[in-house]
Parts: sequence; C-alpha cells; structure tokens
Amino acid sequence: MMIDTHCHLNKEDYENLDQVIKNMGNNIMIVSTASPQDIEEVINLCETHENIYGTIGIHPEFADTYTEDDLKRVEQYLNHPKVVGIGEIGLDYHYTKENKEKQKELFIKQINLANQYKKTIVIHTRDATLDTYNILETVKEPNIKCDLHCYSGSLEMAKNFIKLNATLGIGGVLTFKNEKKLKEIVQALDLKYFVLETDSPYLTPEPYRGHKNEPKNIYYVAQKIAELKDKNIEEILEITTQNAKKQFDIK
Ligand code: NI
Repeated sequence: MMIDTHCHLNKEDYENLDQVIKNMGNNIMIVSTASPQDIEEVINLCETHENIYGTIGIHPEFADTYTEDDLKRVEQYLNHPKVVGIGEIGLDYHYTKENKEKQKELFIKQINLANQYKKTIVIHTRDATLDTYNILETVKEPNIKCDLHCYSGSLEMAKNFIKLNATLGIGGVLTFKNEKKLKEIVQALDLKYFVLETDSPYLTPEPYRGHKNEPKNIYYVAQKIAELKDKNIEEILEITTQNAKKQFDIK
C-alpha cells in the first residue's frame, strides 16, 4: 500500500485521467485544490472513488483575487467526510512579495478554519519559511496537525516544524541529481516524520523527469528514500503509509 499525500488531478491536465487513477490500483490519493475553481472537481473525485480523499483551500497565489464566496465554499466542504484537510494554503514570496500582508491574512483565516473544524493543514511555503513558521506557531492550535507539502527548507527549520505536529512531504525533488539538502534531511531525520507525495502533474521523479507526473510515481520517491536510509522499499512504503493515515485521520 502507498499513499500519495498531495497531487492535483485536473481533467484538463491529463489526456486520460481515468487511466491515471486506475494506475494507482487500490492505493490512496489525496487530491488538493490548486485554485478555488477546483473545489467542486476535487469533491467530485472524492465522491466517485473510494481511494481518493481531498484537501481544499485557497492557495496564496490567489490572495489578491479570491472572493468571500470562495472562502465560504472551503468552509462548507470542510464537513465533507472525504475532505481530510485544508490546503494547500500558505505563503509564497517567490511568486510575489508585493502582497505579503494579504497572503498572511488569508493564511491566518484558513488556519482558524482548521482549528475550528479540526482539520490537518497542508502547507505551501516558498521563500517564506520563517513567516510561515511564526504564523503557524502563534495561530495554529497545538493539537492540529500539518504537512509541509514539498518541503524545501533547512534541516534546522524541519526540526522546528516537527515540534508543531508537522510531517514533511517528500516528492520527486529528492530524486534529482543535484539536490543535496533534501537528501541530507531524509538521512538525518526519523522516517516517522515523512509522507510521500508527487505534486502531480509537476515535479516528476527520476527516471521520468521531463514527463508529466502521476501518483503512481511516488514509488520512485520511496525507492530513493530506501536507498538513502539503507532499508528495503516495503518498509519505507509501510511506514510512510502509516504516517499519512495518522496525519490525515484516514482509517
Ligand atoms: Ni501542489
């Protein structure tokens, strides 16, 4: 069993989305919204596939353009039985630094929803690690879990996030030849802090880098972790599956 804890499965991104889903067999996918327009599509996938769960939220990229209605729709679906988290939400200063305050305001509003509805938070953070940490530390209730999707910070910050009840989402970047930092983090920390993700259709792992990514490719991420930890792949899949089930309250 394996769980892709973070992927985007929009019909418009795949020639044959049904096949991509079938390729995962009985393995689990947690599909995330990329834009507020995806919310209903994610809910629909959850309702039509037993092995698909969802996280919904407003990405920081939409801090200037989201509407109150978008936020209401997020809140409305947090009660849905297949919605296991709010996300991806967070801060992105790579995309733009112009609207930092608006991004923070949107992030805080959605952390408050996570507190209220007891949902795991899936975090997108890019060039904004310290602000992300400070907001989580002050706004998130301690018992609320979070997952740093596609973790790209330092080992030191990873240790701080772990104290805030976080897992680190490890994806295709780990398999890239010139990626050193993430490999060091995987070697340094206990396996219990990691979950697997693809971030499909992006960040395809080696040996398929350059092609469109799909959930079944988390196998190659697990394989890389096995190599770095000097363990067998079955053990990596078993432990990361248990971690994901725990972090997202999946039975
Ligand atoms: Ni994503």
